[in-house]
Amino acid sequence: MLGIPAMPAPDYPADVRERLEPDAREIIARYPNSRSALLPLLHLVQSEEGHVTPTGQRFCAEMLDLTTAEVNAVATFYSMYRRKPSGDYQVGVCTNTLCAVMGGDAIFDDLKQHLGVGNNETTEDGKVTLEHIECNAACDYAPVVMVNWEFFDNQTPESARRLVDDLRAGREVLPTRGAPMCTFKETARILAGFPDQRPGAVEATGGGGEPSIAGLRLARGEAPAGRLAHPRGPAGPADQPMPLPGEEAPQSHPSSHDLPQSTSASDPASEANPVRPESGEESE
Ligand code: FES
Repeated sequence: MLGIPAMPAPDYPADVRERLEPDAREIIARYPNSRSALLPLLHLVQSEEGHVTPTGQRFCAEMLDLTTAEVNAVATFYSMYRRKPSGDYQVGVCTNTLCAVMGGDAIFDDLKQHLGVGNNETTEDGKVTLEHIECNAACDYAPVVMVNWEFFDNQTPESARRLVDDLRAGREVLPTRGAPMCTFKETARILAGFPDQRPGAVEATGGGGEPSIAGLRLARGEAPAGRLAHPRGPAGPADQPMPLPGEEAPQSHPSSHDLPQSTSASDPASEANPVRPESGEESE
């Protein structure tokens, strides 16, 4: 059976296209292959309309000499691209394992009730879109809520309610760390790769929070090595400090097996292990 050819999506109005084309060309020029610019271009069209529309996809396809099917396949794969109109503030509650057990599930349930919306739905005033999100690598501050990808750490149902109320009322809201807040469309333009001109943004994003950079300091040898606590037993070999990079770990240390090995000796079952037990011989 012959299919009916799909109608092409409408183009942007001339004035919008005139504005977006130079931005798109600037983005494309950053890459050796133009098709590599698809992800930032999708952010660019998202910054125009608040979500990726068929018109936006057509624009990306034309600028990159791709088919709209190719653009659509990418736009529908990544959850950062919205496929329907969004609120000014995308409020994401992390319900991944650690945040969930630390209270993320309770926050999400509470906000659904408080805002009168479900997952991926927008409040009637068009201000807040609520969604549950996966781990954003901020587990050290669980439970975490993100607004337009800025962090609000160590939240409770009460603090999260206050947060969405302030956003809807237009009151100033400051993330726990990171850059100052802006709207979803403004965030999309920054993600497209254009300079973040918010006052204080550069300073705010120049480093991570203390718990996040503790491991980095340790790896660089800038912080004393940690010690394992033994609440139920006497101190033993495990109380030795963790080795600094380049130092050999004492074999009695419980984490010595985690250190990178230069050979396959780290895996007794490996075919390539020179001391692999003979078949039928149990390894200890
Ligand atoms: S589980 Fe929530 S940030 Fe990792």
